[in-house]
Amino acid sequence: MKVTVVGAGGNVGSTVADCIAQRDFAKEVVAVDLERKDGDKTFYPSKGRALDQWESSPIHLFDTRITGTVDYADTAGSDVCVITAGVPRKPGMSRDDLLEINANIVKSVTEQLVKHSPDTIIIVVSNPLDVMVQVAKEASGLPHEKVMGMAGILDTARFRSFIAQELDVSPKDIQALLMGGHGDTMVPLPRFTTLCGMPITHFIDEDRLNEIVERAKKGGGEIVGLMGTSAWYAPGAAAAQMVEAIMLDQNRIFPVCAHIDGEYGIDDLYIGVPVKLGKGGIKEIIEVELNEKEQQLLVESAKAVRGTLEDFRKLMNK
Ligand code: LAC
Repeated sequence: MKVTVVGAGGNVGSTVADCIAQRDFAKEVVAVDLERKDGDKTFYPSKGRALDQWESSPIHLFDTRITGTVDYADTAGSDVCVITAGVPRKPGMSRDDLLEINANIVKSVTEQLVKHSPDTIIIVVSNPLDVMVQVAKEASGLPHEKVMGMAGILDTARFRSFIAQELDVSPKDIQALLMGGHGDTMVPLPRFTTLCGMPITHFIDEDRLNEIVERAKKGGGEIVGLMGTSAWYAPGAAAAQMVEAIMLDQNRIFPVCAHIDGEYGIDDLYIGVPVKLGKGGIKEIIEVELNEKEQQLLVESAKAVRGTLEDFRKLMNK
């Protein structure tokens, strides 16, 4: 089983590759990125990072063979491809500010991937996420169930980690659900959040919970503010968890940026919803009954994603 990670010379991509290798379920990880020129020198960041990671295999005890490359021919026959290529946010930027540049990158990367792996499954991580998944879908010609985006696992992980901190309990025992676009309109769902199955609303009062929800929604921006660039440990781990669910056919239930058409009353859009993830990609979109307020927040989030999608269409028709 072979996984390709594009953008693996960067922080998110190399973390995805590292997490996959350390979980030791894949035979091979191909780490792709561009070469980088500096004066008369040429550097190969994905080759360097992949080699460094492979050199950790006797310590971490994994067999997954990681190799770096600049040549898409080396990705041939990949079961899953993760696209992290693109520019990250800088302070003061929203994810939508990256639209034009990342759309062109994601389109060209996708075309090269499917040329060598026509039946692959694609997981997009590049921002603005929901629209980049649509770009990859169109550029790949793959069916909807094989093209998806990573956002919900990251956003719920942030939410869960903050709740665990608040209650001084293990993050393992916090389960949560979140829907909508990967942006300021994302919809954390406290009603579907539990401490070991017990409603979280029994443990945290409404005002405090709302503060935690707001912090989770702005979790990506909090990291950008601290580091001057966007996060990689949690995003990388989240994408690797999706790859694992698909490759081991785990039928995990995760919030994923998936294509819906009618579910939740929303037509033809890539947006975050709970899905069943396993062999072949998205096996099922899971529909839970939302209350009026939750549904309204989801509809607003869908409107925001559709707005960015329209901006993208305008840019492409310029
Ligand atoms: C974040 C980026 C990956 O949320 O979108 O940190």
